[in-house]
Amino acid sequence: MTIAVCPGSFDPLTLGHLDVIRRARSMFDEVVVGIARNSSKAALLPIDVRLTLARTALGDLDGVRVEAVDGLLADFVRTVGASAVVKGLRGGADFDAELPMALMNRHLSGVETVFVVGDQKLAHIASSLVKDVARYGGPIDDLVPEGVVDAVRAALRERDAR
Ligand code: PNS
Repeated sequence: MTIAVCPGSFDPLTLGHLDVIRRARSMFDEVVVGIARNSSKAALLPIDVRLTLARTALGDLDGVRVEAVDGLLADFVRTVGASAVVKGLRGGADFDAELPMALMNRHLSGVETVFVVGDQKLAHIASSLVKDVARYGGPIDDLVPEGVVDAVRAALRERDAR
């Protein structure tokens, strides 16, 4: 039984993430989507909301489950018994950001990172851009799974009201 972890902040989950998770599932028997904190980013959506949205969007995918990563990803990978981390690449900038994390995770736990090239038609979709488009009233319904649109808009309204 081969297990992979697809980690990320998923703030919010996008159609690009779903594409990478599906591709990871085509290579591994089980995929654990690990929703983690990225200490270099301030999250818009609380982790419990991100968990609920991901579980709803991925509910019909056999062999995929969603968990919170509470500490180090390297420890989480060991705990779930995964043999690899899978990350999607949209371009060179992604690789530059991912390479140090892949090397650090291998240093910490010996885990290998597998890079997957996502669907080129989705290469413009980034969680940060989705939030920016939504913040200025643009449409995001063709960028994220159903259910995520309302959660992003509600979180932005709440943030603006503070
Ligand atoms: O979607 P992102 O923000 O690019 O994902 C980055 C993430 C969340 C996977 C990374 O920040 C992470 O692994 N966070 C958990 C804490 C950790 O292990 N930090 C060291 C990473 S080498």
